[in-house]
Amino acid sequence: MYGLLLALHLIAATIWTGGHIVLSLVILPKVLKRRSAQLLLDFESAYEKIGMPALIIQVVTGLMLAYHLLPDVSLWFDMSVPVAHGIAAKLSLLALTVLFALDARFRVIPKLSEANLVDMAWHIIPVTVFSVLFVLAGVSFRAGWLV
Ligand code: HEM
Repeated sequence: MYGLLLALHLIAATIWTGGHIVLSLVILPKVLKRRSAQLLLDFESAYEKIGMPALIIQVVTGLMLAYHLLPDVSLWFDMSVPVAHGIAAKLSLLALTVLFALDARFRVIPKLSEANLVDMAWHIIPVTVFSVLFVLAGVSFRAGWLV
């Protein structure tokens, strides 16, 4: 069961983090160069069909993995417990990702145009950085980086 959860978690991680790296390094420079909001909207509408389910799988499997490692949920932010460091890092990154995504979805995207493309870039780049930090925080459980 743990192996299956970890496998799902890792497949979803490749989609979430990989998709954001492609968005930041390949699509975004083209969008800014051509000043084309449409190019960005086209990528977003194609990617969200697979990116959103991936994030949901990530959160559900992540919470189950965390529960397996530390069944007492009240200790997940207790910094005297070494394994809680990684869990707290993951949950903090999740909160930041959700805040940026909601702001993009409800404030920036509805009036997306050539004029506020840079505003959108300031959402895409941080969410990509968080997605890489998610992977590093994940690896830290085994590598012991955060204990
Ligand atoms: C987009 C979001 C996420 C990404 C990209 C991600 C990525 C990863 C990666 C690459 C690993 C390493 C697995 C290994 O060492 O074999 C991992 C492990 C882990 N993740 Fe995530 N993760 C995400 C979200 C979450 C969330 C929301 C939680 C909830 C607390 C979570 C909890 C865990 C746990 C507990 C492990 C350790 C599993 C183990 O080593 O046995 N993750 N994650």
